[in-house]
Amino acid sequence: MKKIKVLTVFGTRPEAIKMAPVIMELQKNPLVFDSKVCITSQHKEMLSQVLDLFKIKPDYDLDLMKPGQDLWNLTSSVLLGIKNVLEEFSPDITLVHGDTTTTLAASLSAFYARVPVGHVEAGLRTFNKHYPFPEEINRIVADSISDFHFVPTGRAFKNLLSSGIDEKSIYHTGNTIIDALLYTVENHKFNPDSLGIDKNFRTILLTSHRRENFGEPLERVCEAVKILVKNNPDIEFVYPVHLNPNVRNTVHKNLGNIDRVKLVNPLEYAQFAALMKESYIILTDSGGVQEEAPSLGKPVLVLRDETERPEAVECGSVKLVGPHTDKIVSNVQQLLDSEKKYKEMALVTNPYGDGRASERIVKTLMKHFEVPEKNHFDIC
Ligand code: UD1
Ligand code: UDP
Repeated sequence: MKKIKVLTVFGTRPEAIKMAPVIMELQKNPLVFDSKVCITSQHKEMLSQVLDLFKIKPDYDLDLMKPGQDLWNLTSSVLLGIKNVLEEFSPDITLVHGDTTTTLAASLSAFYARVPVGHVEAGLRTFNKHYPFPEEINRIVADSISDFHFVPTGRAFKNLLSSGIDEKSIYHTGNTIIDALLYTVENHKFNPDSLGIDKNFRTILLTSHRRENFGEPLERVCEAVKILVKNNPDIEFVYPVHLNPNVRNTVHKNLGNIDRVKLVNPLEYAQFAALMKESYIILTDSGGVQEEAPSLGKPVLVLRDETERPEAVECGSVKLVGPHTDKIVSNVQQLLDSEKKYKEMALVTNPYGDGRASERIVKTLMKHFEVPEKNHFDIC
């Protein structure tokens, strides 16, 4: 049997975390798939942390990251870089993930080469092209181009249907982030003492990196942190600061040298997952963290005014507070002071998946490429 040639392309930390389980699943079937990985290295250090953890050795590395890179240069470099890889490998399908510049340009590059595209985590929408910027447009373009849409939720399915995408191309698989999280928590046990958190305090985990929050909004988040530590001697913040200079400069200027505010470098994924588990509250504008924290039963306050992931908001474990000082302070304070309010949000909910999304994605590919049943692995 001729092997199915699959090219998986990603470039940033979250794409790597969410594509790692798909790559591992493809690797379980070496007689069926000729699976190759191309990284654009849109991220560098934050990407290599994930590659090391999941033991992924890329076949192609476009090595594109530049300090303070802009969207024009990055987009055009990915578009051209992927062209060369497509010409060399000539895949039967290209898999992309989510909504980054890598996603946009890699899917476009594959389309120009007339290579079918599978979009993992398809169908997310805020229906506001400026929030998040540029991700909303990136995912709309990737969805329009794609031949396979692997959606995490029923809502994402509906979003695609209502935008005119052919129902037969949409597969409800769940989000691969749950696969990655369960795998990581199972295989990498951390002694909480090794996380450097002080057991005398309630830990509030903070991450923020969105473009919309650069500058003044991020300053307002920092202001809220300062007020909260001043008013609550029993809490500490741990903030793994994203390597984007637009984030680092503001955060270090505003929160450097503040008692009970720990600024740390981006954490390796297994360590970050362990820290989420040990935290009391999570404050974030991250997409991935909004998906992971509910399955760990942690209340999440989202530093945005809208989200493409409303499912956990509807379940009650996630609340939007925006990058607004007063709203952040009052909502955190309420969770700190009221056990009842805390319990209402600290629900274990799994609206984003059951840990088997990657299996479903790979099985879909097998069916599509008509791999004989005897060559299918057993997913029961
Ligand atoms: C990107 C994605 C965003 C995603 C985020 C995940 C786009 C437009 N943005 O944003 O959707 O949510 O990744 O984290 O695709 N840097 C390093 N080392 C790294 C990573 C980044 O130094 O390992 C610095 C570099 O100076 C780089 C800058 O951060 O130029 C910005 O990186 P970039 O990928 O363009 O944007 P992010 O803000 O990371
Ligand atoms: N994450 C990590 N280390 C950190 C912070 C986050 O491994 O120090 C993980 C987090 O668990 C989630 C992913 O990175 O799986 C989210 O990445 P990010 O917030 O950068 O991007 P987004 O999801 O917003 O696109």
